[in-house]
Amino acid sequence: MSDTREDGDSIARGFDAAAAEFTSLGEHLWGPIGEALVAVASPQPGERVLDACCGTGASAVPAAQRVGPDGVVDAVDVSAPMITELRARAAHLPQLRTHRLDITAWDGGGPPGYDVVQSGLGIFFLPDMTAGTEGLIAMARPGGRVAFAIWRGDAMAAAGRQLNRAVAAVTGGEEAPPRKPYLIDRINQPECFAQWLGRRGLSDVNVAVNERSLTMDPDLAWLVILGSGFRRALAQLPDDAVASVRERYLSLLDEEGIDALDATTLIGSGTTPAAPNP
Ligand SMILES: C[S@@+](CC[C@H](N)C(=O)[O-])C[C@H]1O[C@@H](n2cnc3c(N)ncnc32)[C@H](O)[C@@H]1O
Repeated sequence: MSDTREDGDSIARGFDAAAAEFTSLGEHLWGPIGEALVAVASPQPGERVLDACCGTGASAVPAAQRVGPDGVVDAVDVSAPMITELRARAAHLPQLRTHRLDITAWDGGGPPGYDVVQSGLGIFFLPDMTAGTEGLIAMARPGGRVAFAIWRGDAMAAAGRQLNRAVAAVTGGEEAPPRKPYLIDRINQPECFAQWLGRRGLSDVNVAVNERSLTMDPDLAWLVILGSGFRRALAQLPDDAVASVRERYLSLLDEEGIDALDATTLIGSGTTPAAPNP
């Protein structure tokens, strides 16, 4: 099984269309996960933080509140609409600096490195997840803290499966094949995620399980699609087809008895090696 995902570019582009509803879904999903990530990363007043794949700021905003006016949060995302949305949300937080950039091209903010490097539900989008995560870890200062959130197991997957079925039913096309398995499918349980983080050279590795479930009433069930990367499945469809997909998707959820969606995350954290004594 490969370290790389083959659909990375199109997945990342899928977030462009989702930016406005991303913030609405954030109240139910991205926000609480971002808060949990920041509670683990624990940025302190005056510290420098990198928030990679920041989206509309679920973890970047609470980190900026914690570091205060004497600190800095560099929030980096490849999606221009996401960054625009974040700039509007964070206008009152000058310590939060937004950057529209592929994180693999970020210069690291310069020496001595960040006190904290964090990424909420971002590392599995990196074209090479292992190399990309090592690149993020390398941007933390010696003895710095890193924290990454990933989905546990097949969290969220049930919504994507029923959406694919609905799109196929409405368009008369084939159901989109499942994406090819890659590294994330091997490390999406606490123990293997911890081992994988340990192999990245971190110490004090810990993986916290952040249990979460979304009640799939019709409005929230559809917001899960509109405000997430799932939305890219609707990208080529005219409005009337999107309305039909919505109806079919909600019926499928009903038929399958899906009234709750697992949205559990794993929050892995660790410390980078201290600088050698001079
Ligand atoms: C699931 S969202 C999570 C956003 C945010 N961290 C949160 O928890 O709400 C993933 C984000 O990763 C961004 N992304 C994906 N690949 C990226 C890359 N190579 N560089 C920067 N951002 C990327 C997407 O644009 C999207 O905003």
